Amino acid sequence: MKNSIETLQQEIGAFAIENADDLEAFRLRFMVRKGSIAELFNLLKDAPSSERPVYGQLLNQLKQAAEKKYDVAKKSIEAVTSGRRKQQVDLTLPGRNEYQGSEHPVQKTLGDMKQIFRAMGFAIATGPELERDSYNFDMLNFPANHPARDMQDTFFVTLNEDEDNLLLRTHTSPVQIRVMLEEKPPIRVICPGKVYRNEAISARSYCVFHQLEGLYIDKNVSFADLKATIYSFAKQMFGSNVQLRFRPSFFPFTEPSAEVDVTCYLCGGKGCRVCKQSGWLEILGCGMVHPNVLRNCSIDPDEFSGFAFGMGVDRTALLRYKIDDIRLLFENDVRMLEQFSQ
Ligand code: DAH
Repeated sequence: MKNSIETLQQEIGAFAIENADDLEAFRLRFMVRKGSIAELFNLLKDAPSSERPVYGQLLNQLKQAAEKKYDVAKKSIEAVTSGRRKQQVDLTLPGRNEYQGSEHPVQKTLGDMKQIFRAMGFAIATGPELERDSYNFDMLNFPANHPARDMQDTFFVTLNEDEDNLLLRTHTSPVQIRVMLEEKPPIRVICPGKVYRNEAISARSYCVFHQLEGLYIDKNVSFADLKATIYSFAKQMFGSNVQLRFRPSFFPFTEPSAEVDVTCYLCGGKGCRVCKQSGWLEILGCGMVHPNVLRNCSIDPDEFSGFAFGMGVDRTALLRYKIDDIRLLFENDVRMLEQFSQ
């Protein structure tokens, strides 16, 4: 028994482990359940009982020595292989470009508009794009036979006589109604969102676009408040040198009404292709909220007054980023969108 242990000890000591194959061969020969060490352990029971403890101890030492040799060899082989693997990385290869998402030009423009109004104390209100006919038209004081209701302009979703039909909202003004039905004055909100119109699609107009509506209702709100608010907005949005022009206009839900132009911020008012040589760009419609609209929402026009405005977002985005076709804003073509990443 003693001899067998010594022979095995020498064998283990002499076994050269140089690579992963040697390592596995070592394990199979000495360490597994049917390996040489286990075999000697099996013989232990045939040894005279007085000698068993000594041999047992020797065998255990041998087993530990074999395990140690195995672990040390394994570590050094792994270190060599992973080092080799590291060297295989070709540092001269060009890096892989990760595509980074970015904010859409319309959302960037809308974000700037929202921030300006938020700083003036306007809260943000939203409403559904699928809207009731009555909120989109009747309650905003559109007469029953108004041409805007025509199916040429409006995408009706349901159409039944004598019912409040559903349509894709044609402007963000119905959100005014929703807010006034929910809240009591003072009310100061902006309502950004998508609107839909059944228009011929071209480089200048599309069937969906974005608007930002504003509404301010309180006691003694005047047209002067409206002008000051629009002035302040325009100077922050288009530059402090910008000039404004209020032109009398008509909307069923405001009286008096105006359309507002800013000096063309591309040519500074001198006249260019974009402003059609006029030096002015129209940015919004506005006015004092019509008493009928207040009444429709149970707000007493003798006690409260207010102003409203609505502006397009897409055209400003187009001009700002020098994009010459509105359709590009809605195609989600990554080649176009990635040009706006910071
Ligand atoms: N809703 C109008 C449109 O889509 C824009 C507008 C004009 C909104 C005057 C207003 C307003 O709130 O007072 O053309």
